[in-house]
Amino acid sequence: MAQAATKEKVVLAYSGGLDTSVCLKWLQAEKGFDVIAVCGNVGQDENDLAAIKQKAIDMGAVASFAVDMREEYANEYVTLAIAANGLYENSYPLLSALSRPLLSKHMVEVAHAFGAKYVAHGCTGKGNDQVRFETSIKALDPSIEIIAPVREWNLHSREEEMEWAKAHGVPVPTTKKSPYSIDDNLWGRAIECGVLEDPWCEPPAGIWTLTADAQSAPDQPEYLEIGFESGVPCSLNGEEMGLVDMIKTINVKAGLHGCGRLDMVENRLVGVKSRECYEVPAAQVIINAHKALETLCLDRETQHYKFGIEQKWATAVYEGLWYSPLKEALDSFCASTQACVTGTVKVKLYKGSSTVVGRKSPYSLYDFGLASYGAQDTFDHEAAKGFIQLHGLPTTVWSAKQGPAAKEMAEQSAFEEKANAVSAA
Ligand code: ARG
Repeated sequence: MAQAATKEKVVLAYSGGLDTSVCLKWLQAEKGFDVIAVCGNVGQDENDLAAIKQKAIDMGAVASFAVDMREEYANEYVTLAIAANGLYENSYPLLSALSRPLLSKHMVEVAHAFGAKYVAHGCTGKGNDQVRFETSIKALDPSIEIIAPVREWNLHSREEEMEWAKAHGVPVPTTKKSPYSIDDNLWGRAIECGVLEDPWCEPPAGIWTLTADAQSAPDQPEYLEIGFESGVPCSLNGEEMGLVDMIKTINVKAGLHGCGRLDMVENRLVGVKSRECYEVPAAQVIINAHKALETLCLDRETQHYKFGIEQKWATAVYEGLWYSPLKEALDSFCASTQACVTGTVKVKLYKGSSTVVGRKSPYSLYDFGLASYGAQDTFDHEAAKGFIQLHGLPTTVWSAKQGPAAKEMAEQSAFEEKANAVSAA
């Protein structure tokens, strides 16, 4: 009895799957912890969170929570990703990178509520998610100790893990395990491992569950009109809509038209190149629409400067720096650009492509008179002459003073290169 009272508590990020179930038992059996399980609902393809919560209790967790985080996820995480047009390596909408800091925040809150000094997650030592959990947790409470059972235990294969599970009363899945590692939430679905580890192998049709094959997509296009207010999507086809519903609806509509598939090799933070497939219909449609609205509503200099900020933002978030001074500062920049990003964007969904085909805004900087080549042209053509003279002045001076010498040097080095190649052959 006395011993039971002195048990340390650990808060475990629990998904209900085999890995985190083994983690739960392992923390009890090998480390002597009282385990508190936290399962977050971030819109993943899992409709029985009550069963997951109960499963943890059945395995001996002293407390278990299934927390609906969808509103918070959409309104406090995804909105910032939209403002920043957050795409890692210009493509990946960061779905896993956005959800881990939110899960971490809830785990730290539960740890505080229970006086737990430890937090645990079921990530391997090779991925980005471990970095995101741990960096987030340390940022929120540096005194918390982190345990990563999968990095520590000596279960080297799925078979060994299943053996250990059976021996310790962990329910093992009866269906054959999918060869893929999947992570999903409102913002999309990530698929890796299995045959995808060969970057030359075309993704098998069966990996896709949110998106239709473009070939079998409807023959008629469908149009979406997405309304934004200060950078936040707020209506769909004229109907006001919260972001959670909007993302869900666009995922279905754009998915039906085969939009939002990604197949890429990405640079993980731990130094590994990894082949990843994603299904991100809503993320792609919304970010593209937002970018299109910004082209109307941001002045040129801000728009150009923001491109660099966006890349930095995406990399920082990918690398687990959600709760960091850098990311906060980048958010402030993005936020200050969004005041007038209000308007509507028309998107055409057709056979695997989502294309922006129209945009309008009450704050549009697009000036028809300035842009038009027609009779209503108000642009001062005369002014262009002097403008070009001064704009081009540095280049004109350079060409006159250094042009011939620069040309000569360039030719010489080209010659040298060829000469070296010949002598090496
Ligand atoms: N490569 C993506 C990322 O690092 C997806 C990771 C998916 N996570 C997973 N446990 N399968 O954000």
